[in-house]
Amino acid sequence: MPRRRPALEPAVRGQNPIAWSAPGDLYNSRFMTSRLIPVEAFDLVVFGATGDLARRKLLPALYHHELNGQLPASVRIIGAARKPMTTDEFRRAARSAIETHVPASELRADTLERLLGHLRYVPVDVATNAGWSELRALLDAAPNATRVFYLATSPQLFGTVCERIQAFELDVEAARVVVEKPIGKSLASARLANDAIARVFPEDRVYRIDHYLGKETVQNLLALRFANALFEPLWNSDHVDHVQITVAEAIGIEERGGYYDGAGALRDMVQNHLLQLLCLVAMEPPALMDADAVRDEKLKVLKVLRPIASSNVGELSVRGQYQGYLADLGAAMSDTETFVAIKAEVLTWRWAGVPFYLRTGKCLPRRMSEIVISFRPVPHNIFGAAAGTIVPNRLVLRLQPDEGVKLWLMIKDPGPGGMRLQHVPLDMSFAEAFGVRNPDAYERLLLDVVRGNQTLFMRRDEVEAAWMWIDPLIAAWQATRQPALPYAPGSWGPSAAQELIERDGRHWHEEA
Ligand code: BG6
Repeated sequence: MPRRRPALEPAVRGQNPIAWSAPGDLYNSRFMTSRLIPVEAFDLVVFGATGDLARRKLLPALYHHELNGQLPASVRIIGAARKPMTTDEFRRAARSAIETHVPASELRADTLERLLGHLRYVPVDVATNAGWSELRALLDAAPNATRVFYLATSPQLFGTVCERIQAFELDVEAARVVVEKPIGKSLASARLANDAIARVFPEDRVYRIDHYLGKETVQNLLALRFANALFEPLWNSDHVDHVQITVAEAIGIEERGGYYDGAGALRDMVQNHLLQLLCLVAMEPPALMDADAVRDEKLKVLKVLRPIASSNVGELSVRGQYQGYLADLGAAMSDTETFVAIKAEVLTWRWAGVPFYLRTGKCLPRRMSEIVISFRPVPHNIFGAAAGTIVPNRLVLRLQPDEGVKLWLMIKDPGPGGMRLQHVPLDMSFAEAFGVRNPDAYERLLLDVVRGNQTLFMRRDEVEAAWMWIDPLIAAWQATRQPALPYAPGSWGPSAAQELIERDGRHWHEEA
């Protein structure tokens, strides 16, 4: 049954969007589900299986794979954590996590039972030898299966867990390890963590997750740039005026104060997520969509970011802290930033002189992440003042919510009344246009690990190059005692963040 074309999006700020014109068969049912590629049987060992990440992200992601029929019957998901628990108890806890974090409309009793059937639990103390022999006995039952060790633990434990994996000879040829950020708090600590992992796993078996790389729009950025002839000729300083990357969250630090206060927004979000997005926008075309080809190009970008030091840190960055942070933290004093805005620059022929404005923060007006490519104005206005202002074109890639791409164009106001110009978005909302549920980032990334595809994971040298840019920035904040300026929850950060961009005669893109 052909699907009805999606309705036009409601008018945005009084302007009528024009629908993305697509071939008729785009809406046929064959496009309504993404192609699902099955994987070979695997054993997934989740260290820290009773923690937040497993409950909120990993188990729901695995549930969706079961729902899609992508998990072979012999897959085993082995929870490993210190808490003494039986497999049945673990299954009960997993059921409740999935029922909480998967929308009710997507819950199917038989699928849930099948997924729970894959689960096992072994009490393992990663800091001692307790439980490791039992884990080994379990894994020995499938010596040839792809083996994934997912370290959903505190980063301080990465080295210890890897050592024990080796000591108990669990690091078979087909074993790989997945680690979550933060990889270190500085270049030095990141190197220590990477060295500890490297003593057991070669780089081609290490998967460093930056879950932003698993988001649909981020991958679409690659498709847009490198599968269309239209954008690449314009993708440079001759045509791009500036780039904005915003990752805004409405929530505060919630229960994560212990970790967050020692990190701050720069380490928590910019060092990884925002710099990764910047790299994908700024990198040169890789020769192949191959893990090292892509990561080589991203690395080159990280290496040529304009250094920020004491002399320019005040002009190029803003720190903020939402009012109420100390109460959330339960502390009397803290200078940790929950908001940061930065004017970055990529020192290459392609990008020289094009600012990349980055901002991220907690307790902002809404959850909204997007990349905005703002093009230069037309060189000459032939229409005269009566036609209205010609607004420069913008390409907006929305990561969340409502993943999609909008290309803002000037068109003639339809109908009689002479030549009046209107700024309207050519709009492609992915969910509407394709009628599929956008998978959570973890869904894609988990199976990429099983398939051995490292393209969407950070390589060691990338992580370290990012710290090489971040460390001097932090040192400059400390040397100049740059304060974390207070901002009201629900605002777009301290007013200095507006000034950072408005000084240059530009504005943050804040379309609802
Ligand atoms: C994590 C940060 O990496 O990303 C969190 O540690 C943040 O502080 C989260 O809330 C945001 O991710 P998402 O996918 O909700 O935008």
